[in-house]
Amino acid sequence: MPVRLGFLRLQDVSVRNKRVLVRVDFNVPLHDGVITDDTRVRAHLPVIHELVKAGAAVMLMSHLGRPKEGAFDVKHSLKPVAEHLGRLLNCTIALQRDWLGGVAVKAGDVVLLENVRFEPGEEANDDELARRMARLCDVFVNDAFATAHRAQASTHGVAKYAPVACAGPLLVAEVEALTRAIKDPARPMLAVVGGSKVSTKLTILEQLLEKVDALIVGGGIANTFLAAAGFEIGKSLQEPDLVPAAQRLLAQAERRGHPVPLPVDVVCGREFSAGATATLKQVADVDSGDLIMDVGPETARRYAAAVAGAATVIWNGPLGVFEWEQFSQGTRVLADAIAASKAFSLAGGGDTLSAIAHYNISDRISYISTGGGAFLEFLEGRSLPAIAILEESARAVAASEREY
Ligand code: 3PG
Ligand code: MG
Repeated sequence: MPVRLGFLRLQDVSVRNKRVLVRVDFNVPLHDGVITDDTRVRAHLPVIHELVKAGAAVMLMSHLGRPKEGAFDVKHSLKPVAEHLGRLLNCTIALQRDWLGGVAVKAGDVVLLENVRFEPGEEANDDELARRMARLCDVFVNDAFATAHRAQASTHGVAKYAPVACAGPLLVAEVEALTRAIKDPARPMLAVVGGSKVSTKLTILEQLLEKVDALIVGGGIANTFLAAAGFEIGKSLQEPDLVPAAQRLLAQAERRGHPVPLPVDVVCGREFSAGATATLKQVADVDSGDLIMDVGPETARRYAAAVAGAATVIWNGPLGVFEWEQFSQGTRVLADAIAASKAFSLAGGGDTLSAIAHYNISDRISYISTGGGAFLEFLEGRSLPAIAILEESARAVAASEREY
């Protein structure tokens, strides 16, 4: 059954010889200037091919990381992405540094605009900045599902002022797949949420707890939860300010009859480094000099059993510092359990995509989203601002058509 969407799609719009501004999400993981996972670049190839084939002049706009606004900063330049995209498309992709004043691009050509977060007002969704972006184009296409939870000038404001605003194929595919997945999920439904910070995922965790039958937390989030449960966690990555919030979440889970399981054993190092020696400890034996960097084998076994018993699994975030072999076992066991399970599995988020690539299990996950925060907020049932504005502009178009 097709999902009904309330916005215009690219195929509803004529783009021949038009100037088309496309918001993509090229926010890829970089290590020493090298892209370590190009899923997000490849995910936008269909929109680029479609526009080039249709004879549009294509301007690609993206953020990368979280640079300080107002200045160019080579660490956050999209140059590696321009080069990589050129290799994928077998052509040279020009990267335009100053673009707000105008972009020279011919029909059938593709230009990448430098990191939109260098522009003052982007994150605040500044109206004047959004208008200047909109002036660059005849048609605005938002294909950046992964940034759809941000109301910023390039995701939200620009759609208000562009002559036409529509959704690209990746955004449509993500919305359709995730809508189907959450409409009537097979139960029990398990969510695994890892990553470094409780603060960025607090409301997501609250909302997910109301929807799922089990929640497993990993990474820095799990450390804060361990602290909330009264355990010594030494020098582990954590957020002391969020301990009361974590206590509330633990209590909320108890009330719903689905307590959050906490690690019983952990793998610790004495310093945060690739060469750190790994020591397995019972969670009660962690001391003030330890950093927890992975779950231990008994915890991993319990989490894998929870995955095996689930009918729907949502996965966002690794359990430990899986980039370092000695702290990677927990995430590996989890990834293998998800791959082996017959559950409908949904995964999303930058680190999660890297883990999936690392363990080579992408064809054993039912659906992989390019979104991290956007993926979780969508599954929570929240309206994403960049999608809401496309719906608003479609309603405005329909209303003006009725008037004539
Ligand atoms: C993401 O990586 O989730 C998106 O690209 C959004 O990035 P942000 O969290 O820096 O807004
Ligand atoms: Mg599977």
